[in-house]
Amino acid sequence: MKPSVKTVDFLVIGGGVAGLRAAIELAAKGSVLVLTKDKPTESSTGYAQGGIAVALSDEDEVSIHYEDTIKAGDGLCREDAVKILVEEGPPLILELISWGAEFDKEGSKLSFTMEGAHSRKRILHSRGDATGKEIERALINKVRSFPSIAKFDFAFTLDLIMDNNKCVGATVLRGDSVINIFAKAVILATGGAGQIFSRTTNPMIATGDGIAIAYRAGALISDAEFMQFHPTTLYFPAAPPFLLSEAMRGEGAVLKNIHGKRFMPEYHEMSELAPRDAVTRAILSEMVQTNSRHVYLDLTHLDKEFIKKRFPLIYATCLQYNIDITEDLIPVSPAAHYIMGGVYTNLDGETSIKGLFAAGEVASTGVHGANRLASNSLLEGLVYGARTGKQAARYVDEEKIGLAEIKSYPTGLTDKEPSMSALDIEKTRSTLRQVMWNKVGIIRCEESLSIAKKWLGKKHFIIETPFQNRRGFELKNMLTVAQLITDSALFRKGSVGAHFRSDHKGRGDNWQKHTACKKDQPVTWMD
Ligand code: FAD
Ligand code: SIN
Repeated sequence: MKPSVKTVDFLVIGGGVAGLRAAIELAAKGSVLVLTKDKPTESSTGYAQGGIAVALSDEDEVSIHYEDTIKAGDGLCREDAVKILVEEGPPLILELISWGAEFDKEGSKLSFTMEGAHSRKRILHSRGDATGKEIERALINKVRSFPSIAKFDFAFTLDLIMDNNKCVGATVLRGDSVINIFAKAVILATGGAGQIFSRTTNPMIATGDGIAIAYRAGALISDAEFMQFHPTTLYFPAAPPFLLSEAMRGEGAVLKNIHGKRFMPEYHEMSELAPRDAVTRAILSEMVQTNSRHVYLDLTHLDKEFIKKRFPLIYATCLQYNIDITEDLIPVSPAAHYIMGGVYTNLDGETSIKGLFAAGEVASTGVHGANRLASNSLLEGLVYGARTGKQAARYVDEEKIGLAEIKSYPTGLTDKEPSMSALDIEKTRSTLRQVMWNKVGIIRCEESLSIAKKWLGKKHFIIETPFQNRRGFELKNMLTVAQLITDSALFRKGSVGAHFRSDHKGRGDNWQKHTACKKDQPVTWMD
């Protein structure tokens, strides 16, 4: 396929909170193109429920938000990254409100709720449990106000265009056409990789594309072993693992095993509001002990009208499965939710590749350590999206970056008869997701990880296969990221935060170091 060519000053790949916020920062600096691989609203941002953490309430302080984030991160947060998050968050939220974002209020004051491992009520929410939609709406409206920002939807990025080890653009599949988009700076904001696991809260777009694309181009990937599993998603035959927000526990919901016994107080002093990794493992332990596939979330002791008003989306969704959350116990079990690792960046979103920047869930700034504090991710998207946008503009300006000479680059697409059928792609995708859930999930060990590694090894040829369509490329990306997670999980012989090894329950040697992976090199510790 012969690509057409397009040029732009700044290419932002991803239209969730991080990509949109970066684009806004760049709007005054040149032409900006934002790509989304699906419709613009299909992002994790759009599905976010619980809220956005920010130290803005009268009873809160930035320093307390800092302490809570560090504690939840289990010793692996980069302290300077956390400091930036909590300090730059409040003014950016106020700015977002000034752009039209509406958060729920009590009287005339903003209403803050509680979530796991927070020591203060500091989570802002919108229309109860539709916070992500509201943030996205406000950001998309703001983006629309800049004529310099254009958007391409259903534009699937295949690979970065590299020239002399510098990123100069990206190759994009849009419908049946391939476009080589040349840019002075490229920002990856492609979100997470939850779809690699068979049980996940993540939308279909979360196939780890950004991590795989950056890895193929030679970028440093760090902390890939740290996958966060959300404790409470709906467990119902044939239903997707719909998220049941941690804010429900923040408002008083409790966890019970299938015999109706509340168990969290036996596992952690913070009970249901313990850090996410602790609650997830406690649930798993109860499921094993009771030989059950789920535990229960119980809100039935709370006021019915309050529940309906506070969690309207969750209430309505559960009713579709004949569960009235005001009256019934809700069957729940954990699911893959958020990847703490990803494309390594410094505090300004610069990756190890010149011209390539990353922000949001795809990036690994170290802000979440080994276990992200609830509702810190939307905040990260705002804070690091803005910083990354600023830095990309500075880079182009200070280094007087022009557009690369336009020449032809390989696209990784084939015109030939596909070597893998559509059905084989689907079958491999489905098996991959099960292998990752069963062998690289909440509890891992040398044996389970080695089984996964062996299976991935047999499928490695797919990573080298040229494809014709998005599904094929997604599979390639999913296999790549699965390999990175598995190798890093094998390498870290210890248990920290969300990474739990049943054969190495202690923290292990070098536990305070971050892991690093680079193409064609074994996993190692970062300096
Ligand atoms: P996303 O919002 O996922 O956006 C990714 C973008 O990249 C999309 O536009 C997508 O189309 C695009 N993209 C991806 N690959 C490609 C490609 N190959 N080519 C072109 N475009 C591409 N966090 C909180 O802080 N609070 C919460 O309450 C909360 N609730 C959550 C609830 C759910 C159900 C989920 C799944 C997550 C939740 N999180 C929450 C986590 C948070 O929503 C995400 O981490 C955050 O929104 C990620 O933002 P992002 O901009 O990095 O990526
Ligand atoms: C939730 O509402 O439980 C999700 C919050 C988050 O992932 O930060």
